[in-house]
Amino acid sequence: MRQCETRIYRLSLESPSAEILEEAKRVLEGGGLVAFPTETVYGLGANALSADAVSHIFEAKGRPSTNPLIVHVPDIASAKRLVSEWTPEAEQLAQRFWAGPLTLVLPKSPLIPDIVTAGGGTVALRMPAHPIAQALLKTCGFPLAAPSANRSNHLSPTQAEHVLASLGGRVEMILDGGSTVGGVESTVVSLFHSPPRLLRPGLITPSELREVLERLEVPKSVEVLEENEEALPSPGMLRRHYSPHTPLKLVPEESAYGEVQRLLEEGRRVGWLTFETPSSHPNLSAVTMPREALGYASRLFAELHALDALGLDAVLVTAPPQGEAWMAVWDRLSRASV
Ligand code: TXA
Ligand code: MG
Repeated sequence: MRQCETRIYRLSLESPSAEILEEAKRVLEGGGLVAFPTETVYGLGANALSADAVSHIFEAKGRPSTNPLIVHVPDIASAKRLVSEWTPEAEQLAQRFWAGPLTLVLPKSPLIPDIVTAGGGTVALRMPAHPIAQALLKTCGFPLAAPSANRSNHLSPTQAEHVLASLGGRVEMILDGGSTVGGVESTVVSLFHSPPRLLRPGLITPSELREVLERLEVPKSVEVLEENEEALPSPGMLRRHYSPHTPLKLVPEESAYGEVQRLLEEGRRVGWLTFETPSSHPNLSAVTMPREALGYASRLFAELHALDALGLDAVLVTAPPQGEAWMAVWDRLSRASV
């Protein structure tokens, strides 16, 4: 295992320091790792054109080599150079949703090392909207492979502190841009399939995608989160992909209060993501979440990280509303639950 000192730099969003971006570029050119904020979660970046550099991502995360990475680009022209075919659907989606939280899976160009795609013939591409991610990509001049900057199977990071806690000593630099706004990872769509297929729900919903795409397949395994792992559409979509250490349980709104009371009566220390303003209890750490999907998503991982750090006996989450806007939240909560 490569060990290193982790340097953290706070960057301004309006004018990120060119000097620090150059330092990050030198680290990346040397095969090192740099964590950076995107509009979704923090990414753990390496030079996507270097198999050696990318191998360090898998090592630092403890990520199985069968799980491919997303390649981040500064613009559409760079994306086109990394695929063997840029389809009309890719052009339309990119025009409409880039820069933004949408990842497109397309046939890969030979420029992309096999390790990035886990040996597969397709590559996942995304142009992030975050000013620090964009500035870093422009400074580098090469694309960055970047999964979420957490150890494999742990919660995704939405703050630089989460990255440090998970990957300190395994990443050379963390560019700290404060809390990310989106809070859950990008929507992943495969254009390799016909019709295009939703591989991971995210902030961009199927209805929004259908404003551009004539057809979009939403596999049952994404929609209803079946536990049949063989049917999962994307290697990273294994259940329990986003787990906190504390056992997390999703409970219907009607029974949540009763269940919390029962655990407290048993003397347990309980965390609760709720929509109510709960009465206080010394063993209860309750968080009142917004009843609006984007606001909820933005805070979800940060609140779970905070509850996880308290070493509680259990975390209960009141089930959020149904409906497409909540699909990404449901997906992440189901995967985090026991
Ligand atoms: O918002 C995001 O997408 C964040 C930020 C850092 O950009 N990145 C992220 O990466 O969530 P990661 O590695 O945690 O998730 C990548 C997802 C996984 O589910 C992976 O299996 C899928 O994308 N994926 C990557 N390449 C793929 C490919 N060629 N075909 C199908 N799925 C792919
Ligand atoms: Mg991840």
